[in-house]
Amino acid sequence: MAKQFAVVTGASSGIGYELAKCCARAGFDLCIAADEPRIDRAAEDFRAMGVGVVAVECDLATKEGVDALYTSTGGRAVDYLLANAGHGLGGAFLDQDFDEVRHLIDTNVTGTLYLIQKIGRDMRDRRKGRILITGSIAGFMPGTYQAAYNGSKALLDSFAFALRAELKDTGVTVTCLMPGATETDFFARADMEDTRIGQSKKDDPAMVAQQGFDAMMNGEGDVVTGWMNKLRSAIANVTPAAVLAEMHRSQAEPRGAKR
Ligand SMILES: NC(=O)c1ccc[n+]([C@@H]2O[C@H](COP(=O)([O-])OP(=O)(O)OC[C@H]3O[C@@H](n4cnc5c(N)ncnc54)[C@H](OP(=O)(O)O)[C@@H]3O)[C@@H](O)[C@H]2O)c1
Repeated sequence: MAKQFAVVTGASSGIGYELAKCCARAGFDLCIAADEPRIDRAAEDFRAMGVGVVAVECDLATKEGVDALYTSTGGRAVDYLLANAGHGLGGAFLDQDFDEVRHLIDTNVTGTLYLIQKIGRDMRDRRKGRILITGSIAGFMPGTYQAAYNGSKALLDSFAFALRAELKDTGVTVTCLMPGATETDFFARADMEDTRIGQSKKDDPAMVAQQGFDAMMNGEGDVVTGWMNKLRSAIANVTPAAVLAEMHRSQAEPRGAKR
């Protein structure tokens, strides 16, 4: 029987690396993508697990990058799409470089939706497929000192439920993985190491990925990983946005900027 085939974005590190590992452990061939050459090292790791791997180095913030990834699937039917690539950007919005803000939105939102549309159409035609989108519990709260990022995740969390409803009865499922703070390169890259959340104890990316993978395989709508995050998201549901925005300040305000 032909092996199943998964596309995993942001598979060079963190949650995406662990998601790709879950796929390799299940015996799926892989097409993995990230923006930097270390995607090739990840590919070696997964090949050593006995699956076929195509590694693509592309900027998923661009249409060309997403097109290059899509082309790299070589027309092979994609059984699983794990749209995970994304990054943060800490600090006060008015002090951020707008090119970096735009790159965040282009990666987390525009590139992600474009890829999902391309591969999702093929899945719908074949009436078969599973899509996992890495959203975040950050999408439940205004992200003071991480404003654009939380907004991007609010969009993804909402989008995932809407697309899932649109695809009801088509044989294609959509699952939203909503982690809380997880021990990856995320906070260093977002320049958030000098914050309470950046310095706090975080979840294990392997645990987060396994829960997301299991939820995708079971066709579930969403999974908030870890009981503390389940509690945080339940509280966020009943707390006024202005209060949440102040709570987020205490977590994400750079220590040097404290009033
Ligand atoms: N860590 C957390 O606390 C946390 C919590 C909730 C949700 N999330 C979400 O989880 C996802 C994975 O993040 P992570 O925590 O695992 O961080 P990470 O270790 O920094 O991994 C991010 C991955 O995305 C890739 N990526 C970022 N921008 C890209 C672009 N423009 N084009 C191609 N690839 C790109 C990176 O590749 P390169 O290195 O090649 O750029 C890397 O493989 C993100 O969507 C993030 O928003 C993270």
